[in-house]
Amino acid sequence: MADKKFYIETYGCQMNFADSEIVNSILLEDGMSPVHEAEQADVILVNTCSIRENAETKVWNRLKEFRQLKREKSDLTVGVLGCMAERIKDQIIEQEHLVDIVVGPDAYRDIPKLIEEVEDGRKAVNVLLSLEETYADIAPVRTTGNGVTAFVSIMRGCDNMCSFCVVPFTRGRERSRPMESILNEIRQLSEQGYKEVTLLGQNVNSYKDGENTFAKLMYEASQVDPEMRFRFSSPHPKDFPDELLHIIAEKPNLCNYIHIPAQAGSSSMLERMRRPYTREQYLELVEKMKSIIPGLSLSTDIIAGFCDETEEEHEQTLSLMKEVEYDLAYMFAYSERERTLAYRKFEDNVPEEIKKRRLSEIITQQMDIQAKRNKEEIGRRHLVLVEGTSKRSDDQMSGRTDTNKMVVFDRMDFSKGDYVEVEVVDSTSATLIARPVKKSSIAEFYKKEAVA
Ligand code: 5AD
Ligand code: SF4
Repeated sequence: MADKKFYIETYGCQMNFADSEIVNSILLEDGMSPVHEAEQADVILVNTCSIRENAETKVWNRLKEFRQLKREKSDLTVGVLGCMAERIKDQIIEQEHLVDIVVGPDAYRDIPKLIEEVEDGRKAVNVLLSLEETYADIAPVRTTGNGVTAFVSIMRGCDNMCSFCVVPFTRGRERSRPMESILNEIRQLSEQGYKEVTLLGQNVNSYKDGENTFAKLMYEASQVDPEMRFRFSSPHPKDFPDELLHIIAEKPNLCNYIHIPAQAGSSSMLERMRRPYTREQYLELVEKMKSIIPGLSLSTDIIAGFCDETEEEHEQTLSLMKEVEYDLAYMFAYSERERTLAYRKFEDNVPEEIKKRRLSEIITQQMDIQAKRNKEEIGRRHLVLVEGTSKRSDDQMSGRTDTNKMVVFDRMDFSKGDYVEVEVVDSTSATLIARPVKKSSIAEFYKKEAVA
């Protein structure tokens, strides 16, 4: 496929961004070359998300814009990759001149062949899901990142079957990538100068490769490079291993930050959501996390207005969030998805304006909590990994603390990829403003902390 230029646009979660890097690698291997603007491409690929209706709407609108490009350039190929593929393959292929290729998340190795089929004048589809595919042997090509932080996918699919969620249908059954191939990728990233890796999966605590558990994988990762930091996303509250909490507490390069999706604050709602834990069990887990890992920062996912949600249940979500005091939360209004249990068995019966009002109450409360939590940071010292120049000003650098808080501070002579010790001097609900103290390292900074 030499000479062809490709452009990939990615929507959705970090998993999807990681997948685009695998697709990048497959196309480069095939002799194609990447371009950064759709207008210059021979092949445009849109890596899509189905998680909520508005994610899909965005993609449809974008495809309509590409249809205009296709009119101007008759040999332009447009493909839909990822989560929307299976759901809408018929619809998409039937719409004249909108999409030529549809490829599901387990069929990316097939893309070069599918592009050839299109050249022969056919529409090309492969949405087969696999029980084995983990792309373990493909080294992702990271073209859009900052060169400092990287995502590494450790498993694919999901077997949880939360009643609201389409992911088990779009991404298939859960399977883990061999531990050695993950560690090799981390070693390569370390050699390339990356300083932070986030291990990704739909449910990382069910990671399993023979005897190797997720806790073991995190431990082994931490040993690869003591100056490289590690995060992970997302674990499930139902089977969070204690062992992992102790490893995080012990290892200075495993970040004191856990994203632990609650989804709702009442046991009755959790049961309808098919989340196998109660409010009390979730709160116990949070207490345990906080007691084992001092200074832990927590984030969560919350859905407002799921089927049959009562005002009382909504209040319980607010009260759970208040009790935990999350440092960050991703908050959504429920959006009904075809094929899910909720679609088949329940009614999406919370009126739109009530969903909106509840969501906005949740967001407002969370912003207040974040502002308060961040204010408490004033005067504290943190080790920040510099990710680049601040969006607001070229004279400032930005990066994140171990606890995943965004920090901005004066540029001085720091560079991307440096660890800098800072002292927090001011804050908003989203950002800490800091005074840089000096360039440092994980070894130096945490040794001092241990003594103090
Ligand atoms: N509607 C709204 N939010 C959803 N999520 C998953 N499915 C839906 C849905 N149908 C949210 C959950 C999940 C996050 C990735 O997206 O909170 O954790
Ligand atoms: Fe990621 Fe889920 Fe969206 Fe797929 S549907 S891209 S798994 S968030």
